[in-house]
Amino acid sequence: MKWNADLYDDKHGFVSQFGASVLELLDVKPGESVLDIGCGTGDLTKQIQEQGADVSGTDYSAEMIAQARFKYPDVPFEVTDAANFSVEYPYDAVFSNAALHWIHNSGGVIKSVYEALKPGGRFVAEMGGKGNIGKLRAAIKQVLQKHGYTHQAETQIWYFPSLGEYTSLLERHGFRVTYAIHFDRKTPLQDGDQGVAKWIKMFGAQYFTGIPQAEHAKLLKEITTLLEPHYNENGQWYADYKRLRFKAVKEI
Ligand code: BEZ
Repeated sequence: MKWNADLYDDKHGFVSQFGASVLELLDVKPGESVLDIGCGTGDLTKQIQEQGADVSGTDYSAEMIAQARFKYPDVPFEVTDAANFSVEYPYDAVFSNAALHWIHNSGGVIKSVYEALKPGGRFVAEMGGKGNIGKLRAAIKQVLQKHGYTHQAETQIWYFPSLGEYTSLLERHGFRVTYAIHFDRKTPLQDGDQGVAKWIKMFGAQYFTGIPQAEHAKLLKEITTLLEPHYNENGQWYADYKRLRFKAVKEI
């Protein structure tokens, strides 16, 4: 997937704003080394540095890393596959916010993170959990099916595991899970009744692969209409996000 890093910063800044409470769980200690995987345009990576850590950020997207380097030239950023990476020196902590649901190879992520940590090091992350944007995904599917786009309707872009599934995977790879929660977080969309369409264009464009451009506006409008009773609260639109947040320690 190709990212528009400017649009991401402009319209989806809430991603890093909501990251503040995951940072509390990370609980950075001055001087420790932290790796931020799926760092996007680097806002939380910078905050981790400001809290006194020796931090590096990585992302699969070259566009995101270019923007992160431009915004924060004093933070080291690198393009890396979070499902298959190795590090020169192990870290005290690996952190991730709103990125791991883009990676279906969860075993590869957890194995790489485990190997990147010092014994006793911690993995602290938040991602979309089971049921995340369930209403949005159901509305997209319904509209695509109705118009005969049956192949596109089956598109699976994201990986939203249950708490049991992900924590079991962490344990199987040698982690001790010391905290895990799966919770609802109604997330505001910008731009009123255009918000759903803008969100889908930014994050879910893959659903529209092979559909003529001239059809898109009509389909997006129908999806928006289906979601309106659930998403529009007195003019402010919200998406039905469900988060999975955890802290796991590499057993010594
Ligand atoms: C999320 O943060 O839950 C999310 C963001 C973009 C696409 C899918 C999920």
